[in-house]
Amino acid sequence: STQKNFTLAVVGGDGIGPEVTAEALKVLDAVSAVHGVTFERTEYDLGAKRWHETGETLPDAELAEIRKHDAILLGAVGDPTVPSGVLERGLLLKLRFALDHYVNLRPSKIYPSVGSPLASPGEVDFVVVREGTEGPYVGNGGALRVGTPAEIATEVSVNTAYGVERVVRDAFARAQARPRKKLTLVHKNNVLVHAGHLWKRTVDAVATEFPDIAVDYLHVDAATIFLVTDPARFDVIVTDNLFGDILTDLAAAISGGIGLAASGNINPDRTAPSMFEPVHGSAPDIAGQQKADPTAAILSAALLCDHLGLTEAAAAIEAAVTADIEERTAGGTRTTSEIGDAIAKRAAG
Ligand code: NAI
Ligand code: MG
Repeated sequence: STQKNFTLAVVGGDGIGPEVTAEALKVLDAVSAVHGVTFERTEYDLGAKRWHETGETLPDAELAEIRKHDAILLGAVGDPTVPSGVLERGLLLKLRFALDHYVNLRPSKIYPSVGSPLASPGEVDFVVVREGTEGPYVGNGGALRVGTPAEIATEVSVNTAYGVERVVRDAFARAQARPRKKLTLVHKNNVLVHAGHLWKRTVDAVATEFPDIAVDYLHVDAATIFLVTDPARFDVIVTDNLFGDILTDLAAAISGGIGLAASGNINPDRTAPSMFEPVHGSAPDIAGQQKADPTAAILSAALLCDHLGLTEAAAAIEAAVTADIEERTAGGTRTTSEIGDAIAKRAAG
């Protein structure tokens, strides 16, 4: 990439969102100085406070503004004072769908020093490519006779040949770029036969173009077993929106916890900016106390750099995080901003 100056839309959001985002920006500043790039930031005041004040989640005019940026950095949204679903659907999912973030990328790695609830997990380094714009999350459903004994609720999973093929192609390309060159399709095609067979046929068809990739298939329930008993077997997992959501929480739990899990909501065609955010939520129980681990947000900034073609900056952030993690001891007591300072210093050095 020859581009040097990038525009960044920043949505800190709720709870610990702004705290961890501040540290991610600190680290981005540190690496951009070294790598001769700039990030011009615009902050967007969206989330629970905005909704309480104005009833707005994401007005179309602001969505249009956000769309003009090169990338989006998001903290977390959600608050106990806002009815469940309002911000998730009205802000987070609206961004993912409107900006066509059809690849939800969630890497998992076990850092030896952090440890894992698993006794001997082996070398774990895999990435989940979760479909981001279809499946059961499209809002294709409705309810009748709500609150009565005869209530009906539907939530239809939408899978298109176009939507499945584009995410499967992205997953194969990612597998191709990784040393182990392995791809696992996770679905439930013995029960969800309509969607499951579309996914399976698509993977089989695209596989013929990638003869060096080893392909296998797991039902989602079996995948949860192997994520616990043998997570080292995985390299690239490609799966639908809902399965991917659940599997990546499990993946985070076995690999150092939610404080380390980063993600990218990616538009691989680059028709709109991609969005990078930690997997965790707004953690209202520790918000405002400088207790949150900003590492997931910082690793999300590394994914952002990678997506923008800033490979060296991304590698510098990852190396800084790895070094920081290696020095951690159980029950460490650094504040959010002390962790950010330490990683920023290493990333710049
Ligand atoms: P959560 O991820 O916010 O918190 C779960 C637990 O993990 C809490 O005990 C929290 O203190 C801890 N935790 C989370 N991030 C941490 C960090 N960086 N460092 C240390 N500890 C951390 O999930 P929860 O409690 O289910 O949801 C809280 C709110 O966040 C809800 O409103 C939910 O809808 C929203 N949420 C938003 C997401 C997003 O913005 N992408 C994703 C998940 C939840
Ligand atoms: Mg989730």
